[in-house]
Amino acid sequence: MGVNIKFEPEGQGGIVAEGSYLWDAAKRLGIRLPAKCEGRGECDTCAVVVQEGATLLSSLTDAERVHLSQDRLAAGERLACQVKVERAGDLVLRAVPVTEREETPEEAVKDFRKEFREMPLERKFATLFEFEAMTAYQTLNAISNIPSKVGEKVLDIMAGRGRRLSRRERDAHRPAEHRRTSNEAGQKEKQST
Ligand code: FES
Repeated sequence: MGVNIKFEPEGQGGIVAEGSYLWDAAKRLGIRLPAKCEGRGECDTCAVVVQEGATLLSSLTDAERVHLSQDRLAAGERLACQVKVERAGDLVLRAVPVTEREETPEEAVKDFRKEFREMPLERKFATLFEFEAMTAYQTLNAISNIPSKVGEKVLDIMAGRGRRLSRRERDAHRPAEHRRTSNEAGQKEKQST
């Protein structure tokens, strides 16, 4: 039967296999949820509000108790990388906007680009020298090509590690509470792809 997921407010969604993590399911459906800690359960950027279908999901993990306040848990928030869909049925979710959660490196870079563009020239110089990784030569080079060069450099500094994780790497980050059943989930995920 599978799990019918719908993301509000756009209404995007589709069917995914039982045993899928919400973050993976969203990705498979073309919805990119942020994941600053790359699914390690160390941030709150992947938070979603479960509007319908909470009983289909795995129990709260320790990571969710740490990173979501009582108020947020009471409002139905879960960390998408920590939650497995354990039962078939209908799920309605909404991603938590950035104003209510931590900013990802990409979002911070975007904000910085805007802020930088609006700075007076003197502040631009001062700001660039604050980035220790930039030499004077790079700074002058960047200044001559504002904002694209600066944006690229800042992007390198802030999000340099890259964000693509292999299935094996993601599995290594799964909540400790789920490790016993991770092999079984992996089988189901494979079948659904
Ligand atoms: S991506 Fe950091 S907790 Fe989910």
